[in-house]
Amino acid sequence: LDNGLALTPTMGWLHWERFMCNTDCKTDPDNCISERLYMQMADVMVKEGWKDAGYEYVCIDDCWTFHKRDAQGRLQADPDRFPSGIKKLADYIHSKGLKLGIYADLGYKTCGGYPGSLGYHEIDAQTFADWDVDLLKYDGCYLEWKLVGEGYINMSKALNNTGKSILYSCEWPLYVWPFDKPNYTAIRETCNHWRNYADVYDSWSSIKSILDWSAKYQDIIVPSAGPGGWNDPDMLVIGNFGLSHDQQESQMALWAIMAAPLIMSNDLRDICPRSKALLQNKYIIAINQDPLGKQGYQTSKGNDFEVWERPLSENRLAMAVMNRQEIGGPRRFFLAAAPGWELCNPKCNITLILPKYQELGVVPLQTDLMLPVNPSGTMLLTLTPLQNTLQDHKLRWN
Ligand code: GLA
Repeated sequence: LDNGLALTPTMGWLHWERFMCNTDCKTDPDNCISERLYMQMADVMVKEGWKDAGYEYVCIDDCWTFHKRDAQGRLQADPDRFPSGIKKLADYIHSKGLKLGIYADLGYKTCGGYPGSLGYHEIDAQTFADWDVDLLKYDGCYLEWKLVGEGYINMSKALNNTGKSILYSCEWPLYVWPFDKPNYTAIRETCNHWRNYADVYDSWSSIKSILDWSAKYQDIIVPSAGPGGWNDPDMLVIGNFGLSHDQQESQMALWAIMAAPLIMSNDLRDICPRSKALLQNKYIIAINQDPLGKQGYQTSKGNDFEVWERPLSENRLAMAVMNRQEIGGPRRFFLAAAPGWELCNPKCNITLILPKYQELGVVPLQTDLMLPVNPSGTMLLTLTPLQNTLQDHKLRWN
């Protein structure tokens, strides 16, 4: 969507995967969906380096509204859980130098059963603008799939008509895929990012299924990504309960290769130092935010290794090698076997980013370099070609 926003993938935090639809502020005040939760996250984001690392949007997901609209037909926040109201919350978040995201749904109900925006999208867009909200996640539950596209386009126009810059996060293709091939040209013109596939869970099987889906449909989805519009493989669940550290590194590395929005769903008030360091790793974030804005591809697969490659600015290449074998110990990958290695003619400067930052220096095309990758872990590196004479290399994105 050409609204000047999301020129690089969005970075922030969203409550859904970790806090879901917990509305029980009486007995679980620290984890319920309430204004306190977002204020506390914003505080931590400033204090603990998240904002400095680039994480900017603090986002509300489903279950924030009162079950009825007001007399003017406007959505209202649940008064018990948001006693100050959303405008005040936005002011607070802005006072921290951060931005506020909110959630709505184009159908007659949200996925969680709260009031939907069907028939109200103009009022809702105006309400969000009046409240100074900076991002809208617009869900697609409770509407016939044939009307979903129109619903997303209508809200995109309504947001634009408010005159306020509101980043627009969609789930349009997710709701169309079961019935038809989505129109990615229209989706890119309408949204700043879009969910294609199932909700992320806090498990390695969930991460694997998202990656497998993204690889299977990459020829359809990858070309649609670029500054202003991105494929959204859903939230980062790093720092929660379900992933080993190697698996967390795999999620972070592959989300960077996929030019995915880096939207965490975890508890920043209580996160282990290793997960925090991984989420704040400036080298991985730099790959994710690379100004060239091209999404990477899975470029080869075999012997239970997967190679994913993303072209970066200045003719560099990011490469992720994932070890999909879940038995045994670390297995060594022969670097020159990666398709992108041809960029290293006659030689490359190599920086290893994961599992550990290390300058590997200049490596010639003919090399016997073999690097270990842990089971369900990922090695991430960048290649900078030196004296590259291969102008028109055969990498698939050219
Ligand atoms: C859908 C979305 C999720 C989340 C929930 C909320 O499942 O895909 O990301 O927003 O609805 O109910």
